Parts: sequence; structure tokens; C-alpha cells
Amino acid sequence: MTSLRCLVTGGAGFVGSHLVDRLLADGHEVVALDNLYTGSKANLAHLASESRFAFVEADVCDDLAPLGRFDWIFNLACPASPPHYQRDPIFTAKTCFLGVLRCLEHAERHGARLLQASTSEVYGDPEVHPQPESYRGSVNPVGPRSCYDEGKRVGETLCFDFRARGVDARIVRIFNTYGPRMDPSDGRVVSNFVVQALRGEPLTVYGDGTQTRSFCFVSDLIDGFLRLMTHPQAQGPINVGNDREHTMLELAELVMRLTERGSELTHLPLPKDDPTRRRPDLSRARETLGYEPAVSLEDGLAATVGYFREVLADREE
Ligand SMILES: NC(=O)c1ccc[n+]([C@@H]2O[C@H](COP(=O)([O-])OP(=O)(O)OC[C@H]3O[C@@H](n4cnc5c(N)ncnc54)[C@H](O)[C@@H]3O)[C@@H](O)[C@H]2O)c1
Repeated sequence: MTSLRCLVTGGAGFVGSHLVDRLLADGHEVVALDNLYTGSKANLAHLASESRFAFVEADVCDDLAPLGRFDWIFNLACPASPPHYQRDPIFTAKTCFLGVLRCLEHAERHGARLLQASTSEVYGDPEVHPQPESYRGSVNPVGPRSCYDEGKRVGETLCFDFRARGVDARIVRIFNTYGPRMDPSDGRVVSNFVVQALRGEPLTVYGDGTQTRSFCFVSDLIDGFLRLMTHPQAQGPINVGNDREHTMLELAELVMRLTERGSELTHLPLPKDDPTRRRPDLSRARETLGYEPAVSLEDGLAATVGYFREVLADREE
């Protein structure tokens, strides 16, 4: 494939930094834009001498015109974990709405293809299981998760509306993804469990631990992104994730085994509006994109545990 000029907003974040690596490995030129709200320059430090890479510290809601022309725009800028997106809900809603608007305007200006990082949160607390793309969701518009859930929903709407103006806007609905470079303090279950286990602390389980999630290793997610972006016409929305479902108790046991720590469990009440079950229906991704998640939970968690061991050791030095 010819070398493309790519913009990755949120490029200093967990998923964004892996996407930057993959695009560079594929021979492209990449600009990562990030305001470092939750991301970190450390996630991109290994690219300091890479001539095809540039980092721009800016807000995605700012005018993107000075950045010039791109072939591909990936809009990932947005705090993603509940404690982070609830810290300043108006900032989150603004980032969701204005951020995608700015990216779509820029895509229209330059004829760029755009990938919008949407989320399984658009399904809210689903009454349908697993969730196909045709399911319209059960979202609370006035709750602690609304700034993010509704923000991402309006992001999809804007993509749909810009398509009518000729913009090739593609939408990926990301399900729970984990892996190296997750922020240890982002409050998501994988990072919580691994960090607590490595510190020898009890693992915090919300509710009775029978609620389920499906966990996608980050390299599988990035594979899904590239399959959607290189597809001749598919625009989505399309679910990408892993459809193996695990209870929180199963996850806790696996983490304890991989960290070789016999931590205990403590139970806290379920947070408000926390979905009890969440699993992608991947039929469309399989049929349209030939997508198949390849990394098992055990292998992905082992890599994640290795990463967190290093991060925690550095912090303790
Ligand atoms: N990780 C997941 O499981 C998951 C699931 C569903 C959707 N997503 C989506 O994927 C994207 C990346 O998520 P992540 O897990 O890497 O989260 P992350 O918090 O690690 O990354 C988000 C990045 O966006 C940056 N950012 C936030 N607001 C910004 C703004 N206004 N301007 C510029 N940069 C801004 C942050 O500094 C950070 O680097 C997000 O859009 C998120 O909604 C992630």
C-alpha cells in the first residue's frame, strides 16, 4: 500500500499509541494530536527519532486547519474510563461533540477518510444480548455516564450526517479493550485487578461479581480498525471486540494466577447505571471484514501483567 498521511487524535492514549505504532509499521506518516488529559508522552517516547512521526499537543476541539492535509483521520480523543470521563462531564461531552465535528470538517476539507472511535456504551445497559449493531440501546440521558454515552451517540449521528455531504466517515463500536499502556489508575476492571494483585491488595469486585464483560486485547482492536479503514466501502457502525464472555470473578481468579498473588476479594456495591452484561455480536465484523479476535484472555493478560509490573517497579524506584 502507498504511504498515507494519518492523523490520530488521542494518539498519546492507550489505544491511540498502539494505533500510531501500527500505522508507522505499515509505512505511513503519522501525526498524533493529544492534549494529554489522560494520555502521556511516555506512550510515544520510543518514537522520538522516528522521522515519519510528529506529536502535536493540542485540543481536538481547536481548529485543525493548521495541521494540513491528511488521507486518513482517526478520532480517538476522549477520556474513556468512567472515573476519567466523569471528572469533568462537560469537557467530555464537548470533546465528544466538538471533537468529531472538527475532525469531520477537516476530513471534508481534504477528502480524507475518517474513523470515529465509538463505543459499546452506545448500547447503554442493554436489554438485548449479545448486542448487534441494529440494537438501538438503552441509554440514560441524565445520569453519571450520559456525558460519554450520549456524547458518543451524537458523534455517530454527526458521522452519518457528514456522509450525506460526501465524507467517508466510518464508525467502529469498541468493546472493552485492555493491554499494555493502560493507565494503572484509570479505574477499569483489568487495570484495577492487576495493580491490586501486584501490590498484594484485595481485588475490588463490584456487586457479587457475576456480571460479565468481554475483553479484547488491544492488537485485535487495532486489526479491526485497519480492516475497516482499508475496506472498499464498509462504513459501519461495526462492533469490534472479543465475544468471549467472562464474569468478574473469573477474571479475578485469572489475574491472581498470572500475578502469582493469592489476593482476597472485597465486594462493593455496583455503580449506578453499570451494565450487568455486555458482549458484542461480531457477525457483521466477521462477515464484512473477515475479523476474528486472535489473542486469548490468558495471553493478553500475561502481556498486561508484564507491563504493569514494569510500571509499578519504576514508580517504586
Ligand atoms: N479502551 C476501551 O476499552 C474503549 C472502549 C470503547 C471506546 N473506546 C474509545 O477509544 C478511544 C481511546 O480510548 P483509550 O482507552 O485509549 O483512552 P485514553 O484515555 O487512554 O485515550 C484517550 C486520549 O485522548 C486524549 N484526549 C482526551 N480529550 C481530548 C481532547 N479534548 N483533545 C485532545 N486529546 C484528548 C487523552 O489525553 C488520551 O491520550 C476513546 O475515544 C474511547 O472512547 C475505548
